[in-house]
Amino acid sequence: MIKKCLFPVAGYGTRFLPATKAMPKEMLPIVNKPLVQYGVEEAIEAGLVDIGMVTGRGKRAIADHFDMNYELEHQISGSSKEQYLESIRSVMGNAHFSFTRQVEMRGLGDAILNGRRLIGDEPFGVVLSDDLCLCEDDGVMSQMVQLYKQFRCSIVAIQEVPDELIHKFGVIKGEQMKDGIYSVTDMVEKPSLEEAPSNLAIIGRYILTPDIFSIIENTPPGKNGEVQLTDALLAQAKNGCVLAYKFKGRRFDCGSVEGFVEATNYVYENIYKPE
Ligand code: UTP
Repeated sequence: MIKKCLFPVAGYGTRFLPATKAMPKEMLPIVNKPLVQYGVEEAIEAGLVDIGMVTGRGKRAIADHFDMNYELEHQISGSSKEQYLESIRSVMGNAHFSFTRQVEMRGLGDAILNGRRLIGDEPFGVVLSDDLCLCEDDGVMSQMVQLYKQFRCSIVAIQEVPDELIHKFGVIKGEQMKDGIYSVTDMVEKPSLEEAPSNLAIIGRYILTPDIFSIIENTPPGKNGEVQLTDALLAQAKNGCVLAYKFKGRRFDCGSVEGFVEATNYVYENIYKPE
């Protein structure tokens, strides 16, 4: 089944400048854990243990985070502080990491195409770790893997968003097949409210079938001059099938300052366990 998960983490994170001038936005902590680790934990929970990261300049801290720090291990060995390393040790013990670089930030579609060699010819998950998803039971990726087993086609996670935020998302039009599952018939990237085909917005979780790579290769730059994954997915939907899935859980847009603060408060109050 699906074993691989791609993390496009090459973006500049301009909304968090100056914090992200020399530090990847994916390393910003929600309380005591970097955003990207939440995403990797969600992937591992879904059985996606081959993690491929598409990084860029200035993102070395992400690779270091998932590597051994011998000096630190030596320093705190045997002390009570070792407990703070438990979660990252568990991640490192349960997953395998590969890295490639996106040389020019030409958009999410291009970042995914850069991950082609890490994925090969098999279906794979995609996690945009600045979307933090928290669920009571199965994580969003687990929910989507279950759905993939049934339908065997690309799946995008969606949520309903209010009118004033619709212009920030890729938005789908779909025919409802079952409660919360839609067959996609149209998709528009960052539409105005008038252009938006619905209030169902794509969030940063995908399962993609590998034919998406050749479709992206033939996808010209779209909105904002970037190679848009949404455009490639629309082509895939027209040729075959793409599903949209209204996931169960909460999403925080940690790519924005407001969402980041909201997530921090939520995790601190509901999840974080102080010593
Ligand atoms: P965003 O547009 O949210 O990220 O892209 P950004 O560009 O880093 O943020 P701002 O707008 O400047 O603040 C969504 C995801 O796609 C990745 C980003 O790292 C993020 O996880 N991405 C985007 C790439 O990897 N490469 C790109 O060329 C563009």
